[in-house]
Amino acid sequence: MRAVWPEELPLFFRISATDWLEERGWTVDETVRLAALLREHGVDLLDVSSGGNGGPAEIPVGPGYQVPFAARVRAEAGLPVAAVGLITESRQAEKILANGEADAILLGRELLRDASWPRRAARELGATTPAPPQYAWAI
Ligand SMILES: Cc1cc2nc3c(=O)[nH]c(=O)nc-3n(C[C@H](O)[C@H](O)[C@H](O)COP(=O)(O)O)c2cc1C
Repeated sequence: MRAVWPEELPLFFRISATDWLEERGWTVDETVRLAALLREHGVDLLDVSSGGNGGPAEIPVGPGYQVPFAARVRAEAGLPVAAVGLITESRQAEKILANGEADAILLGRELLRDASWPRRAARELGATTPAPPQYAWAI
């Protein structure tokens, strides 16, 4: 994929870092090893999620519950990562970045609920974002 994808564009790779099934499924240790190989093959960033369809598993779903997986990949494989999964608040997202746990934040359901989330988050964090002219009086 790297060979056919334009050099100036980033190549992201999405992974379920664990199936939450211990040794019966894919593990975070294996994700860390794979991430190092992906880095060698020119992947720019690993989008670190987790699996929910490998069988019965106890998944401790809660705010940022997949962030530790991203942090491990970043620290141990040296590959930039994105954190995803129940990240819904601007300060929560900022803290993950400031702590060095991830290089980027990805949103799913919260962005469906509030398509203006990035703009609102920037305002809450005292940052400015480029805006189309139609938004100029509403920022
Ligand atoms: C029930 C359920 C099962 C999921 N299973 C997977 C999965 O197998 N692999 C995966 O990469 N992400 C999985 N996800 C994560 C979502 O694809 C997505 O990353 C996540 O919902 C985004 O986080 P957010 O919607 O909390 O912002 C699952 C999410 C839910 C709610």
